[in-house]
Amino acid sequence: MKNNPVVMGIETSCDETGVGIVRGHELLADAVASSVDEHARFGGVVPEVASRAHLEAMVPTVQRALDDAGLTLADLDGIAVTAGPGLAGALMVGVGAAKAYSLATGVPLYGVNHLSAHIAVDTLENGPIPEPAIGLLVSGGHSSIMMVEDLAGKVTQLGASIDDAAGEAFDKVARLLGLPFPGGPYIDKAAKEGDRAFVRFPRGLTAAKDMEKHRYDFSFSGLKTAVARWIEAQRAEGNNVPVNDVAAAFQEAVCDVLTQKAILAAKEHGVDTILLGGGVAANSRLRTLAVERAEDAGITLRYPRPKLCTDNGAMVAALGSHLVSAGIAPSVIDFPANSSMDVEIVSLANRL
Ligand code: KG4
Ligand code: ZN
Repeated sequence: MKNNPVVMGIETSCDETGVGIVRGHELLADAVASSVDEHARFGGVVPEVASRAHLEAMVPTVQRALDDAGLTLADLDGIAVTAGPGLAGALMVGVGAAKAYSLATGVPLYGVNHLSAHIAVDTLENGPIPEPAIGLLVSGGHSSIMMVEDLAGKVTQLGASIDDAAGEAFDKVARLLGLPFPGGPYIDKAAKEGDRAFVRFPRGLTAAKDMEKHRYDFSFSGLKTAVARWIEAQRAEGNNVPVNDVAAAFQEAVCDVLTQKAILAAKEHGVDTILLGGGVAANSRLRTLAVERAEDAGITLRYPRPKLCTDNGAMVAALGSHLVSAGIAPSVIDFPANSSMDVEIVSLANRL
């Protein structure tokens, strides 16, 4: 066990090459090189392009993070790397690099879960997480309600999207509205000028019969289809599509369901803290609505600054630092990158 360990985190699960360095809960460096511009014209992340960009960015991004922190590799107490879930080739670049740095320096290596890292990053903003807590994890690939009993090892999924992830829905609806990729931030911005009550789009899995079977689950593909139909109908009648209003009404439907179900989960499990994590947690309406509803329910709501919500290396470092402090054993060096890593596995040290 070590107090305030210095940990470097490496993140390459999608299109961001992130290298962060923390000391305990203190953020020392957060270097991110994104290949998003190379993917934008394809309307989604192209895995091979992402892998190559990670390869090119890895060493300079590590160096930039060390320089920003004023440290060298010899100062590290741990190296943490996203082992999954994510794009296989992209993950392999980060895992390979982290192993090389660990072997070259003798610094212990932790293969960690990207999703737990999205939760752990909150410690850099708001300090230790009160346990148990409910994590509302909303990203481009996942939308889950997690019970966090112990961030070092016991994280259970209470519910998840049965189809599209929340971020995926933002990206697809943005495309329908002619907004650039990734769509989340553009919808967020357009919605600020729109009327969220302009149309009432469907709230998936909230009807009484769905609440029995899918109490804490989400569904966003019906919502996406409803938006597509609505836009088609307007165009067929020769009407202009009011982009800001549709963005606001769509965003409201997503945020309404996410916040309703997260608060229900907290209440029904007697938990008084909810954390928002993942790229969609950067959404301004989600943050506002979650704060309002949590306050009404007597629940504390925490979230990190928007830059720490989207993928970065600091979140991986934050989880690594928590694991080192908790005395968790490092991962065995031959662990693989696992593109479909189980959301409930916090780090590979736990289950070997
Ligand atoms: O966590 P993240 O950076 O990557 C994954 O792990 O998937 O999440 C990316 C997702 C994208 O779908 C993006 O559109 C969405 O997060 N996103 C947002 C906002 N910023 C990013 N969605 C809604 N509002 C935002 N402000
Ligand atoms: Zn992510």
